[in-house]
Amino acid sequence: MSAQLQDAPLSLAPMELADLDAVILVERAAYPYPWTRGNFRDCLDSGYRCWVARQGGALVGYSILMAAAGEGHVLNCCVAPEWQGRGHGRTLMLDLMDAARHHGVECLFLEVRPSNLQALGLYAGLGFETVGLRRNYYPADQGREDAIIMRFCL
Ligand SMILES: CC(C)(COP(=O)(O)OP(=O)(O)OC[C@H]1O[C@@H](n2cnc3c(N)ncnc32)[C@H](O)[C@@H]1OP(=O)(O)O)[C@@H](O)C(=O)NCCC(=O)NCCS
Repeated sequence: MSAQLQDAPLSLAPMELADLDAVILVERAAYPYPWTRGNFRDCLDSGYRCWVARQGGALVGYSILMAAAGEGHVLNCCVAPEWQGRGHGRTLMLDLMDAARHHGVECLFLEVRPSNLQALGLYAGLGFETVGLRRNYYPADQGREDAIIMRFCL
């Protein structure tokens, strides 16, 4: 990654169908069990709030919020591995939380793997609290992994 690219400002914009090739590449690089292209297309078709982050023209991350009836769910928040640890995850989440507020969301929920220390650190740092556990929620290399349910009241 060139120094010029690293120093470029981060910009946020709505995700478009044309972004899906780049989104899928990031998704596959970042998750052991990635979403499919169809999952992203469904989110766009459903009118969920899907946004991307770009730096110097490169798609570096995205977030997806489903909001209805005063409740919000963070369906995805992801930063490309080579762009992690630079504050982009926090920027994407703060932007999503702001959007949730504007959608009239009172409580925002998300699920996260107990083994995902980066995401747990990100969410706890933003003020999310653990409110429950879904047993055997995620596929894992050996069997299934639980999901920690976190909540942030806006
Ligand atoms: C989780 C994720 C979005 C964080 O994005 P990021 O851009 O690396 O995070 P940031 O640089 O904004 O860091 C924000 C906070 O995350 C936590 N964090 C980031 N990297 C971490 C690491 N390697 N270990 C522990 N905590 C970490 C810290 O609390 C950090 O706050 P700090 O900088 O004040 O210490 C990113 O790791 C990612 O995309 N992972 C793969 C996809 C994923 O698991 N998404 C979440 C699904 S629930």
